[in-house]
Amino acid sequence: MSASAAGFSQRVRAGFGRRATLYEHHARLQQATAWRLGHLCRQLPLGEGPRADLGAGSGLLSRALVQQHAALSRQPPLQLDQCPELLALNPLAAAGSRLWDLNHGLPADLEGAALLGSSFALQWLDDPIGQLGHWCRRLRSGGWLVLAVPTAGSFPHWRQAARAAQVPCTALCLPAAPALQAAAGDAGLELHHSQQLRFSRPDQGGLATLHHLRQLGASASRTSPLTAGQLRRLLRHWPAGSPLTWEVLLLVGRAP
Ligand SMILES: C[S@@+](CC[C@H](N)C(=O)[O-])C[C@H]1O[C@@H](n2cnc3c(N)ncnc32)[C@H](O)[C@@H]1O
Repeated sequence: MSASAAGFSQRVRAGFGRRATLYEHHARLQQATAWRLGHLCRQLPLGEGPRADLGAGSGLLSRALVQQHAALSRQPPLQLDQCPELLALNPLAAAGSRLWDLNHGLPADLEGAALLGSSFALQWLDDPIGQLGHWCRRLRSGGWLVLAVPTAGSFPHWRQAARAAQVPCTALCLPAAPALQAAAGDAGLELHHSQQLRFSRPDQGGLATLHHLRQLGASASRTSPLTAGQLRRLLRHWPAGSPLTWEVLLLVGRAP
């Protein structure tokens, strides 16, 4: 990993760490998405092999899986994350957790996994497309990948405002859904469910959008922060009352 990539990963960790106690209060979309994934997975036939929630944070996805899948309630997934503050708040961490930076790939003992789940975490990695392929190749034959990830069509008003204001857009650069689907397919995954969803928080505008992401701990950017003048210009060009829009890809697939 390059020094700048390592620096970004540390900023992501610090951002989530600072806001860890508030995360679940603000993470309504993440909670709803986790529940939806859990519902999609309630009948998955799981074989032997490691189970892990990648970028588990406070455990929203795993809790939804455990509540809706009998076998997972008996053996919850390993809670893997780089943020100790979020893991400390995760009720499933006592059954098994690991501090790990996913930019280094997966730990060797997850080889032959029966289930790899991840929600709202892949987009923070330096190479989401490459890491997704790596995750798929670590599944055992018949193992399941269960994924939710925000994609490139998110935050359209932010990008539009930055273009109009002629300032850099500091939003996280998100992977495109077709590239993610192609990476999973190239790694041999048979897609059982692939769905792109759009969610909007109404009447947000610029300031509320930036504030919401900060409250979640999700405001780390690969772009240098705007100056006060640039920020004022950005906010002036942000369409008033526009929604905060997320585009989220849900994937459930099986290794052949
Ligand atoms: C938006 S939170 C999602 C947490 C949880 N999956 C959920 O749905 O609520 C993003 C999570 O990804 C984790 N994360 C980000 N970059 C990571 C990395 N390089 N390695 C491991 N975890 C990472 C963060 O620490 C955080 O817990």
